[in-house]
Amino acid sequence: MVNKGFPEGFLWGSASAAYQIEGAHDVDGKGLSNWDTFVRIPGKTFQATTGDKAVDHYNRYQEDIQLMAEMGLKAYRFSISWPRVIPKGTGEVNELGLQFYDNVINECLAHGIVPMVTMYHWDLPQALEVAYGGWENRQIVDDFEQYAKTIIKRYGDRVKYWITMNEQSIFTGLGWQSAMHPPGKKDDDNMFYQVNHHAHLAHAKAVLALKKLFPEAKVGASHAHYPAYAFDCKPENNIARMNLEDFRNYWWMDVYAFGRYPKRAFKHLQDHGMAPEMDEGDLDLLKKAASQIDFMGVNYYQTAVAEENAADGIKANMEANSSEAKGKTHGVPSLYKSPANPHLGQTDWGWTIDPVGLRVCCRDITSRYDLPIVISENGLGAFDKKEADGRIRDPYRIDYIKTHVEQMKLAIDEGSEIWAYCTWSFTDLLSWLNGYQKRYGFVFVDREEAEDSGTLDRFKKDSYYWYQHVIKTNGVDLDFDVSSLLARVD
Ligand code: BG6
Repeated sequence: MVNKGFPEGFLWGSASAAYQIEGAHDVDGKGLSNWDTFVRIPGKTFQATTGDKAVDHYNRYQEDIQLMAEMGLKAYRFSISWPRVIPKGTGEVNELGLQFYDNVINECLAHGIVPMVTMYHWDLPQALEVAYGGWENRQIVDDFEQYAKTIIKRYGDRVKYWITMNEQSIFTGLGWQSAMHPPGKKDDDNMFYQVNHHAHLAHAKAVLALKKLFPEAKVGASHAHYPAYAFDCKPENNIARMNLEDFRNYWWMDVYAFGRYPKRAFKHLQDHGMAPEMDEGDLDLLKKAASQIDFMGVNYYQTAVAEENAADGIKANMEANSSEAKGKTHGVPSLYKSPANPHLGQTDWGWTIDPVGLRVCCRDITSRYDLPIVISENGLGAFDKKEADGRIRDPYRIDYIKTHVEQMKLAIDEGSEIWAYCTWSFTDLLSWLNGYQKRYGFVFVDREEAEDSGTLDRFKKDSYYWYQHVIKTNGVDLDFDVSSLLARVD
Protein backbone atom coordinates (compact mmCIF):
# COMPACT_ATOMS: atom_id res chain seq x y z
CA MET A 1 0.00 0.00 0.00
CA VAL A 2 1.56 3.28 -1.10
CA ASN A 3 0.89 6.40 0.99
CA LYS A 4 0.73 9.95 -0.21
CA GLY A 5 3.24 12.31 1.32
CA PHE A 6 6.26 11.55 3.44
CA PRO A 7 6.75 9.83 6.79
CA GLU A 8 5.81 11.85 9.85
CA GLY A 9 8.77 13.85 11.14
CA PHE A 10 10.52 13.77 7.76
CA LEU A 11 13.27 16.39 7.81
CA TRP A 12 12.82 18.79 4.92
CA GLY A 13 16.12 20.62 4.99
CA SER A 14 18.70 22.66 3.22
CA ALA A 15 22.49 22.71 3.42
CA SER A 16 25.55 24.95 3.31
CA ALA A 17 29.26 24.90 4.12
CA ALA A 18 31.28 27.33 6.21
CA TYR A 19 33.72 28.56 3.58
CA GLN A 20 30.96 29.07 1.03
CA ILE A 21 28.76 31.30 3.18
CA GLU A 22 30.43 32.73 6.26
CA GLY A 23 33.02 35.23 5.04
CA ALA A 24 34.77 36.88 8.02
CA HIS A 25 37.77 34.82 7.01
CA ASP A 26 40.22 36.56 9.33
CA VAL A 27 38.21 38.03 12.16
CA ASP A 28 37.57 37.13 15.80
CA GLY A 29 40.64 34.94 16.02
CA LYS A 30 39.93 32.65 13.05
CA GLY A 31 43.00 30.97 11.56
CA LEU A 32 43.49 30.80 7.81
CA SER A 33 42.33 27.72 5.95
CA ASN A 34 43.82 25.94 2.97
CA TRP A 35 41.07 27.59 0.89
CA ASP A 36 41.94 31.10 2.10
CA THR A 37 45.37 30.38 0.66
CA PHE A 38 44.41 28.44 -2.47
CA VAL A 39 41.99 31.03 -3.86
CA ARG A 40 44.87 33.52 -3.98
CA ILE A 41 46.79 31.44 -6.52
CA PRO A 42 46.12 33.10 -9.90
CA GLY A 43 43.86 31.08 -12.19
CA LYS A 44 42.52 28.69 -9.58
CA THR A 45 38.98 30.05 -9.17
CA PHE A 46 36.50 31.71 -11.53
CA GLN A 47 37.47 35.38 -11.85
CA ALA A 48 39.64 34.94 -8.76
CA THR A 49 36.60 34.76 -6.47
CA THR A 50 37.23 34.15 -2.80
CA GLY A 51 35.20 33.38 0.29
CA ASP A 52 36.70 36.32 2.17
CA LYS A 53 33.28 37.88 2.49
CA ALA A 54 31.22 35.11 0.86
CA VAL A 55 27.56 35.93 1.57
CA ASP A 56 28.40 37.37 4.99
CA HIS A 57 26.49 34.70 6.89
CA TYR A 58 28.86 35.28 9.83
CA ASN A 59 27.16 38.63 10.38
CA ARG A 60 23.74 37.79 8.95
CA TYR A 61 23.09 34.33 10.36
CA GLN A 62 20.05 35.57 12.31
CA GLU A 63 18.43 36.96 9.18
CA ASP A 64 19.18 33.74 7.29
CA ILE A 65 17.76 31.51 10.00
CA GLN A 66 14.72 33.78 10.26
CA LEU A 67 14.14 33.18 6.53
CA MET A 68 14.48 29.43 7.13
CA ALA A 69 11.95 29.60 9.94
CA GLU A 70 9.50 31.54 7.81
CA MET A 71 9.82 28.90 5.15
CA GLY A 72 9.07 26.18 7.70
CA LEU A 73 12.43 24.43 7.19
CA LYS A 74 12.76 21.43 9.48
CA ALA A 75 16.53 20.90 9.33
CA TYR A 76 19.56 23.00 8.53
CA ARG A 77 22.82 21.29 7.62
CA PHE A 78 25.91 23.49 7.98
CA SER A 79 29.59 22.90 8.57
CA ILE A 80 31.95 24.06 11.26
CA SER A 81 35.14 25.71 10.14
CA TRP A 82 38.00 23.87 11.85
CA PRO A 83 40.35 26.91 11.69
CA ARG A 84 37.64 29.12 13.19
CA VAL A 85 37.51 26.99 16.33
CA ILE A 86 41.13 25.77 16.45
CA PRO A 87 43.07 28.42 14.50
CA LYS A 88 46.29 26.43 14.17
CA GLY A 89 44.49 23.12 13.70
CA THR A 90 45.77 21.75 16.97
CA GLY A 91 46.23 23.12 20.45
CA GLU A 92 44.55 26.31 21.53
CA VAL A 93 40.83 26.75 20.89
CA ASN A 94 39.22 30.04 19.90
CA GLU A 95 36.32 30.82 22.21
CA LEU A 96 34.86 33.44 19.86
CA GLY A 97 34.76 30.88 17.06
CA LEU A 98 33.01 28.37 19.29
CA GLN A 99 30.52 31.02 20.32
CA PHE A 100 29.58 31.72 16.72
CA TYR A 101 28.39 28.14 16.26
CA ASP A 102 26.66 28.24 19.65
CA ASN A 103 24.72 31.18 18.28
CA VAL A 104 23.84 29.42 15.02
CA ILE A 105 22.72 26.27 16.81
CA ASN A 106 20.71 28.14 19.43
CA GLU A 107 19.06 30.28 16.80
CA CYS A 108 18.03 27.18 14.86
CA LEU A 109 16.65 25.51 17.97
CA ALA A 110 14.75 28.63 18.98
CA HIS A 111 12.95 28.40 15.62
CA GLY A 112 12.31 24.67 15.82
CA ILE A 113 14.93 23.88 13.15
CA VAL A 114 17.02 20.74 13.69
CA PRO A 115 20.74 21.57 13.32
CA MET A 116 22.75 19.00 11.38
CA VAL A 117 26.49 19.56 11.72
CA THR A 118 29.18 18.64 9.20
CA MET A 119 32.56 18.38 10.90
CA TYR A 120 34.69 18.71 7.77
CA HIS A 121 33.57 20.45 4.60
CA TRP A 122 37.00 20.98 3.08
CA ASP A 123 38.45 23.98 4.95
CA LEU A 124 41.57 22.61 6.58
CA PRO A 125 43.64 24.80 8.91
CA GLN A 126 46.46 26.09 6.71
CA ALA A 127 48.82 25.72 9.67
CA LEU A 128 48.51 21.92 9.38
CA GLU A 129 49.19 22.07 5.66
CA VAL A 130 52.38 24.00 6.38
CA ALA A 131 53.41 21.95 9.41
CA TYR A 132 53.17 18.51 7.89
CA GLY A 133 51.28 18.47 4.59
CA GLY A 134 47.77 18.16 6.05
CA TRP A 135 45.97 14.98 5.04
CA GLU A 136 49.20 13.49 3.67
CA ASN A 137 50.53 12.91 7.16
CA ARG A 138 49.04 10.40 9.56
CA GLN A 139 49.38 12.96 12.35
CA ILE A 140 46.19 14.52 11.03
CA VAL A 141 44.15 11.62 12.39
CA ASP A 142 44.94 12.64 15.98
CA ASP A 143 44.52 16.33 15.27
CA PHE A 144 41.15 15.73 13.68
CA GLU A 145 40.15 13.68 16.69
CA GLN A 146 41.04 16.58 18.99
CA TYR A 147 39.00 18.96 16.81
CA ALA A 148 36.06 16.53 16.68
CA LYS A 149 36.08 16.05 20.46
CA THR A 150 36.17 19.82 20.96
CA ILE A 151 33.03 20.42 18.94
CA ILE A 152 31.24 17.29 20.14
CA LYS A 153 31.75 18.29 23.79
CA ARG A 154 30.63 21.82 23.09
CA TYR A 155 27.53 21.15 20.98
CA GLY A 156 26.61 17.51 21.65
CA ASP A 157 23.94 18.47 24.16
CA ARG A 158 22.05 20.30 21.40
CA VAL A 159 23.10 18.67 18.12
CA LYS A 160 21.68 15.24 17.39
CA TYR A 161 22.76 14.74 13.75
CA TRP A 162 26.45 14.73 12.81
CA ILE A 163 28.20 14.24 9.48
CA THR A 164 31.92 13.57 9.84
CA MET A 165 33.22 14.06 6.29
CA ASN A 166 31.72 15.86 3.33
CA GLU A 167 32.50 14.19 0.00
CA GLN A 168 35.85 12.69 0.85
CA SER A 169 36.06 11.31 -2.69
CA ILE A 170 35.74 14.79 -4.17
CA PHE A 171 38.12 16.82 -2.02
CA THR A 172 40.81 14.14 -2.33
CA GLY A 173 40.25 13.59 -6.06
CA LEU A 174 40.32 17.27 -6.89
CA GLY A 175 43.19 17.82 -4.45
CA TRP A 176 45.56 15.02 -5.51
CA GLN A 177 44.45 13.88 -8.95
CA SER A 178 43.38 16.96 -10.88
CA ALA A 179 44.97 19.86 -8.96
CA MET A 180 41.68 21.74 -8.91
CA HIS A 181 41.37 21.95 -5.13
CA PRO A 182 44.07 22.39 -2.49
CA PRO A 183 46.76 21.23 -2.17
CA GLY A 184 46.71 21.36 -5.99
CA LYS A 185 48.52 18.10 -6.79
CA LYS A 186 48.06 16.22 -10.04
CA ASP A 187 48.05 12.52 -10.89
CA ASP A 188 49.33 11.53 -7.47
CA ASP A 189 47.30 8.34 -7.26
CA ASN A 190 49.39 6.79 -4.51
CA MET A 191 48.93 9.79 -2.28
CA PHE A 192 45.26 9.97 -3.25
CA TYR A 193 44.68 6.56 -1.68
CA GLN A 194 46.92 7.34 1.27
CA VAL A 195 45.13 10.58 2.18
CA ASN A 196 41.84 8.77 1.83
CA HIS A 197 43.01 6.16 4.30
CA HIS A 198 43.91 8.94 6.76
CA ALA A 199 40.53 10.58 6.24
CA HIS A 200 38.79 7.25 6.83
CA LEU A 201 40.68 6.84 10.10
CA ALA A 202 39.84 10.42 11.12
CA HIS A 203 36.18 9.75 10.36
CA ALA A 204 36.31 6.54 12.42
CA LYS A 205 37.86 8.27 15.44
CA ALA A 206 35.24 11.00 15.28
CA VAL A 207 32.41 8.45 15.16
CA LEU A 208 33.77 6.63 18.20
CA ALA A 209 34.34 9.85 20.14
CA LEU A 210 30.79 11.01 19.44
CA LYS A 211 29.18 7.72 20.40
CA LYS A 212 31.19 7.53 23.60
CA LEU A 213 30.11 10.99 24.70
CA PHE A 214 26.59 11.03 23.23
CA PRO A 215 25.39 7.48 22.49
CA GLU A 216 22.00 8.78 21.34
CA ALA A 217 23.50 11.00 18.62
CA LYS A 218 23.07 9.99 14.97
CA VAL A 219 26.18 9.94 12.82
CA GLY A 220 27.25 9.20 9.25
CA ALA A 221 29.45 10.56 6.47
CA SER A 222 28.23 12.21 3.27
CA HIS A 223 29.37 10.54 0.10
CA ALA A 224 29.15 12.16 -3.34
CA HIS A 225 27.15 9.27 -4.72
CA TYR A 226 27.76 8.88 -8.44
CA PRO A 227 25.83 5.82 -9.64
CA ALA A 228 26.83 4.36 -12.97
CA TYR A 229 24.91 2.82 -15.86
CA ALA A 230 26.62 0.46 -18.28
CA PHE A 231 26.87 2.13 -21.70
CA ASP A 232 25.01 -0.85 -23.18
CA CYS A 233 24.61 -4.60 -22.66
CA LYS A 234 28.07 -5.46 -23.95
CA PRO A 235 29.42 -7.58 -21.04
CA GLU A 236 32.71 -5.64 -20.86
CA ASN A 237 30.76 -2.46 -20.33
CA ASN A 238 29.08 -3.97 -17.31
CA ILE A 239 32.50 -4.82 -15.89
CA ALA A 240 33.43 -1.18 -16.52
CA ARG A 241 30.31 -0.16 -14.57
CA MET A 242 31.37 -2.38 -11.67
CA ASN A 243 34.84 -0.82 -11.77
CA LEU A 244 33.42 2.68 -11.72
CA GLU A 245 31.16 1.85 -8.77
CA ASP A 246 34.10 0.35 -6.85
CA PHE A 247 36.44 3.27 -7.51
CA ARG A 248 33.98 6.14 -7.22
CA ASN A 249 31.45 4.91 -4.68
CA TYR A 250 32.18 1.76 -2.75
CA TRP A 251 35.77 2.76 -1.89
CA TRP A 252 34.14 5.18 0.55
CA MET A 253 30.73 3.81 1.37
CA ASP A 254 32.00 0.25 2.06
CA VAL A 255 34.45 1.68 4.58
CA TYR A 256 31.78 3.78 6.30
CA ALA A 257 29.29 0.91 6.41
CA PHE A 258 31.43 -2.25 6.60
CA GLY A 259 34.85 -1.01 7.74
CA ARG A 260 36.64 -2.57 4.76
CA TYR A 261 37.70 -1.66 1.25
CA PRO A 262 36.03 -3.32 -1.77
CA LYS A 263 38.12 -6.42 -2.53
CA ARG A 264 38.48 -6.13 -6.29
CA ALA A 265 39.50 -2.50 -6.06
CA PHE A 266 42.02 -3.20 -3.30
CA LYS A 267 43.56 -6.04 -5.31
CA HIS A 268 43.87 -3.74 -8.31
CA LEU A 269 45.72 -1.17 -6.23
CA GLN A 270 48.02 -3.83 -4.76
CA ASP A 271 48.80 -5.12 -8.25
CA HIS A 272 49.73 -1.59 -9.32
CA GLY A 273 51.66 -0.64 -6.18
CA MET A 274 49.07 1.94 -5.15
CA ALA A 275 47.43 0.40 -2.08
CA PRO A 276 47.53 2.64 0.98
CA GLU A 277 49.93 1.84 3.79
CA MET A 278 48.11 0.70 6.88
CA ASP A 279 49.12 0.19 10.47
CA GLU A 280 48.12 -2.78 12.53
CA GLY A 281 44.76 -2.08 14.06
CA ASP A 282 43.55 0.27 11.31
CA LEU A 283 41.02 -2.17 9.94
CA ASP A 284 39.74 -2.96 13.43
CA LEU A 285 39.23 0.75 14.02
CA LEU A 286 37.35 1.16 10.72
CA LYS A 287 35.18 -1.87 11.55
CA LYS A 288 34.38 -0.63 15.01
CA ALA A 289 33.29 2.76 13.64
CA ALA A 290 31.28 1.08 10.89
CA SER A 291 29.32 -0.85 13.48
CA GLN A 292 28.33 2.45 15.11
CA ILE A 293 27.22 4.62 12.22
CA ASP A 294 23.51 5.33 11.98
CA PHE A 295 22.96 6.48 8.41
CA MET A 296 24.57 6.94 5.03
CA GLY A 297 24.76 10.56 3.93
CA VAL A 298 24.19 11.05 0.21
CA ASN A 299 25.09 14.10 -1.81
CA TYR A 300 23.49 13.45 -5.15
CA TYR A 301 23.90 15.54 -8.26
CA GLN A 302 24.38 13.22 -11.21
CA THR A 303 24.90 9.74 -12.62
CA ALA A 304 27.67 8.41 -14.83
CA VAL A 305 27.90 6.10 -17.83
CA ALA A 306 30.55 3.39 -17.87
CA GLU A 307 32.23 1.92 -20.91
CA GLU A 308 35.29 -0.30 -21.23
CA ASN A 309 38.56 1.59 -21.52
CA ALA A 310 41.79 0.13 -22.90
CA ALA A 311 45.04 0.09 -20.92
CA ASP A 312 46.24 2.99 -23.06
CA GLY A 313 42.77 4.58 -23.12
CA ILE A 314 41.33 7.86 -21.94
CA LYS A 315 42.69 9.35 -18.75
CA ALA A 316 41.44 12.38 -16.88
CA ASN A 317 40.20 12.11 -13.39
CA MET A 318 37.60 13.56 -11.17
CA GLU A 319 36.40 16.46 -13.22
CA ALA A 320 32.91 16.38 -11.82
CA ASN A 321 32.25 19.50 -9.79
CA SER A 322 33.88 21.86 -12.22
CA SER A 323 32.76 23.76 -15.24
CA GLU A 324 35.51 22.08 -17.21
CA ALA A 325 33.72 18.75 -17.12
CA LYS A 326 31.20 19.83 -19.74
CA GLY A 327 30.90 17.40 -22.61
CA LYS A 328 34.21 15.68 -21.83
CA THR A 329 34.71 11.96 -21.62
CA HIS A 330 36.93 11.05 -18.71
CA GLY A 331 38.14 7.76 -17.36
CA VAL A 332 40.76 5.52 -15.86
CA PRO A 333 42.75 3.35 -18.29
CA SER A 334 41.91 -0.37 -18.11
CA LEU A 335 39.05 0.28 -15.67
CA TYR A 336 36.39 2.47 -17.28
CA LYS A 337 35.67 5.56 -19.26
CA SER A 338 32.63 7.69 -18.83
CA PRO A 339 30.97 9.25 -21.88
CA ALA A 340 27.93 11.54 -21.73
CA ASN A 341 24.49 9.96 -21.40
CA PRO A 342 22.56 10.57 -24.64
CA HIS A 343 19.22 10.11 -22.84
CA LEU A 344 19.70 12.92 -20.37
CA GLY A 345 20.04 16.68 -20.39
CA GLN A 346 22.72 18.68 -18.62
CA THR A 347 22.90 21.79 -16.49
CA ASP A 348 24.63 24.92 -17.76
CA TRP A 349 27.80 23.52 -16.18
CA GLY A 350 27.52 20.17 -17.91
CA TRP A 351 26.20 18.13 -14.99
CA THR A 352 23.84 15.38 -16.11
CA ILE A 353 20.29 15.84 -14.82
CA ASP A 354 18.90 12.49 -13.74
CA PRO A 355 16.18 12.36 -11.07
CA VAL A 356 15.92 8.57 -11.37
CA GLY A 357 19.58 8.43 -10.32
CA LEU A 358 18.55 9.57 -6.84
CA ARG A 359 16.28 6.56 -6.57
CA VAL A 360 19.11 4.37 -7.80
CA CYS A 361 21.32 5.72 -4.96
CA CYS A 362 18.68 4.98 -2.35
CA ARG A 363 17.90 1.52 -3.67
CA ASP A 364 21.58 0.64 -3.86
CA ILE A 365 22.34 1.83 -0.32
CA THR A 366 19.28 0.12 1.11
CA SER A 367 20.10 -3.22 -0.50
CA ARG A 368 23.86 -3.14 0.03
CA TYR A 369 24.08 -1.61 3.51
CA ASP A 370 20.57 -1.72 4.93
CA LEU A 371 21.16 1.69 6.52
CA PRO A 372 18.85 4.68 6.85
CA ILE A 373 19.68 7.51 4.44
CA VAL A 374 20.14 11.22 4.89
CA ILE A 375 20.12 13.03 1.57
CA SER A 376 22.52 15.73 2.60
CA GLU A 377 22.73 17.58 -0.73
CA ASN A 378 20.79 17.79 -3.98
CA GLY A 379 20.16 20.85 -6.08
CA LEU A 380 20.62 22.84 -9.25
CA GLY A 381 23.23 25.48 -10.02
CA ALA A 382 21.86 28.06 -12.46
CA PHE A 383 22.23 31.65 -13.69
CA ASP A 384 19.34 33.22 -11.77
CA LYS A 385 18.34 36.81 -12.42
CA LYS A 386 16.41 39.30 -10.35
CA GLU A 387 13.89 40.81 -12.73
CA ALA A 388 12.59 44.36 -12.93
CA ASP A 389 9.49 43.47 -10.88
CA GLY A 390 11.73 42.15 -8.11
CA ARG A 391 10.89 38.50 -8.68
CA ILE A 392 13.45 35.78 -9.25
CA ARG A 393 11.73 33.25 -11.46
CA ASP A 394 13.46 29.87 -11.21
CA PRO A 395 10.95 27.32 -12.57
CA TYR A 396 13.91 25.13 -13.64
CA ARG A 397 14.96 24.76 -9.99
CA ILE A 398 11.40 23.92 -8.93
CA ASP A 399 11.23 21.32 -11.67
CA TYR A 400 14.63 19.88 -10.72
CA ILE A 401 13.78 19.52 -7.04
CA LYS A 402 10.24 18.30 -7.73
CA THR A 403 11.38 15.50 -10.01
CA HIS A 404 14.06 14.43 -7.54
CA VAL A 405 11.62 14.50 -4.63
CA GLU A 406 9.21 12.32 -6.65
CA GLN A 407 11.94 9.74 -7.15
CA MET A 408 12.91 9.90 -3.48
CA LYS A 409 9.28 9.18 -2.61
CA LEU A 410 9.31 6.16 -4.91
CA ALA A 411 12.45 4.93 -3.14
CA ILE A 412 10.65 5.25 0.20
CA ASP A 413 7.70 3.34 -1.20
CA GLU A 414 10.13 0.68 -2.35
CA GLY A 415 11.53 0.24 1.14
CA SER A 416 14.30 2.81 1.67
CA GLU A 417 14.30 4.48 5.06
CA ILE A 418 15.06 8.13 4.33
CA TRP A 419 15.25 10.54 7.25
CA ALA A 420 16.04 13.83 5.57
CA TYR A 421 16.29 15.66 2.28
CA CYS A 422 18.58 18.70 2.26
CA THR A 423 18.65 20.84 -0.81
CA TRP A 424 21.86 22.54 -1.84
CA SER A 425 21.56 25.32 -0.84
CA PHE A 426 19.43 27.69 1.26
CA THR A 427 20.93 31.04 0.26
CA ASP A 428 23.07 31.54 -2.79
CA LEU A 429 26.71 30.98 -1.94
CA LEU A 430 30.19 30.62 -3.34
CA SER A 431 30.65 27.74 -5.75
CA TRP A 432 34.24 26.65 -5.02
CA LEU A 433 35.44 26.89 -8.60
CA ASN A 434 32.58 28.66 -10.33
CA GLY A 435 32.19 31.84 -8.34
CA TYR A 436 28.91 33.50 -7.33
CA GLN A 437 27.24 33.31 -10.73
CA LYS A 438 26.41 29.63 -10.22
CA ARG A 439 23.48 30.03 -7.87
CA TYR A 440 21.87 27.20 -5.92
CA GLY A 441 19.75 28.92 -3.27
CA PHE A 442 16.08 29.46 -2.51
CA VAL A 443 17.23 32.90 -1.42
CA PHE A 444 18.98 35.18 -3.88
CA VAL A 445 21.94 37.12 -2.50
CA ASP A 446 22.79 40.42 -4.14
CA ARG A 447 26.43 39.98 -5.00
CA GLU A 448 28.54 39.01 -7.97
CA GLU A 449 32.15 37.99 -8.33
CA ALA A 450 33.83 41.22 -7.24
CA GLU A 451 34.04 41.67 -3.46
CA ASP A 452 32.09 44.95 -3.39
CA SER A 453 29.67 44.11 -6.20
CA GLY A 454 26.39 44.11 -4.28
CA THR A 455 24.46 44.93 -1.12
CA LEU A 456 24.41 41.29 0.06
CA ASP A 457 20.69 41.75 0.66
CA ARG A 458 18.52 38.64 0.53
CA PHE A 459 15.52 38.09 -1.79
CA LYS A 460 13.18 35.10 -1.93
CA LYS A 461 13.10 33.28 -5.25
CA ASP A 462 9.97 31.58 -6.61
CA SER A 463 11.41 28.26 -5.46
CA TYR A 464 11.40 29.54 -1.86
CA TYR A 465 7.62 29.72 -1.89
CA TRP A 466 7.32 26.39 -3.68
CA TYR A 467 9.47 24.54 -1.14
CA GLN A 468 7.58 26.27 1.67
CA HIS A 469 4.38 24.72 0.32
CA VAL A 470 6.01 21.30 -0.10
CA ILE A 471 7.08 21.38 3.55
CA LYS A 472 3.65 22.56 4.67
CA THR A 473 1.96 19.63 2.93
CA ASN A 474 4.76 17.19 3.95
CA GLY A 475 5.44 16.48 0.30
CA VAL A 476 1.84 15.70 -0.67
CA ASP A 477 1.48 18.64 -3.04
CA LEU A 478 4.45 19.08 -5.35
CA ASP A 479 2.46 20.89 -8.04
CA PHE A 480 1.94 24.17 -6.25
CA ASP A 481 1.80 27.08 -8.69
CA VAL A 482 3.77 29.92 -7.13
CA SER A 483 2.48 32.53 -9.59
CA SER A 484 -0.94 32.70 -7.99
CA LEU A 485 0.61 33.36 -4.59
CA LEU A 486 3.20 35.78 -5.87
CA ALA A 487 0.66 37.84 -7.75
CA ARG A 488 -0.81 38.54 -4.29
CA VAL A 489 2.56 39.08 -2.61
CA ASP A 490 3.65 41.54 -5.26
C1 BG6 B 1 29.11 19.41 -3.52
C2 BG6 B 1 29.76 20.12 -2.38
O1 BG6 B 1 30.08 18.67 -4.14
O2 BG6 B 1 28.60 20.15 -4.57
C3 BG6 B 1 29.35 21.56 -2.22
O3 BG6 B 1 29.58 19.42 -1.18
C4 BG6 B 1 29.31 22.20 -3.59
O4 BG6 B 1 30.23 22.21 -1.34
C5 BG6 B 1 28.23 21.50 -4.38
O5 BG6 B 1 29.13 23.58 -3.62
C6 BG6 B 1 28.02 22.10 -5.74
O6 BG6 B 1 29.23 22.15 -6.42
P1 BG6 B 1 29.65 23.39 -7.29
O7 BG6 B 1 30.95 23.02 -7.88
O8 BG6 B 1 28.61 23.60 -8.28
O9 BG6 B 1 29.75 24.51 -6.30
